[in-house]
Amino acid sequence: MAPKNEITVEWQEDYSTGIAKLDEQHKTIISYLNEFNALAMSDDKRAISAILIKLLGYTLTHFLDEEISMYAARYTEFEKHRNEHNRFFFELRSLYIKFEGGNNSRLVCAEIASTLKEWFITHISDTDKKYGPFLASLEP
Ligand SMILES: [Fe+2]
Repeated sequence: MAPKNEITVEWQEDYSTGIAKLDEQHKTIISYLNEFNALAMSDDKRAISAILIKLLGYTLTHFLDEEISMYAARYTEFEKHRNEHNRFFFELRSLYIKFEGGNNSRLVCAEIASTLKEWFITHISDTDKKYGPFLASLEP
């Protein structure tokens, strides 16, 4: 587990969507987020790059899982939610390119850290929570 610092994010029961599989994925994202935060101010560009790649890949898979569940359930906010995912993924991808292609990695890392934290926590605790009761009502 990554060492705690002031930007460590902790899972809270309040984040729960009520859908076990998606909650588990959110916990994994939070752990990657903390891994990134722990490395962000180091000079280990290779390790930072590796965790960013992991985070990008996992986020994409997770978004797809959520979108498939929402689509299958004919969730009324599907389009809006998917647009939010698309915007965030575009932003994350742009920041990653900036990190790999630039020479002020500490500055970019600080930008990535605050974007990730703010976005994920807001999205998980607000937008994602809304689909919870809707999807849960359809579970067998
Ligand atoms: Fe989502």
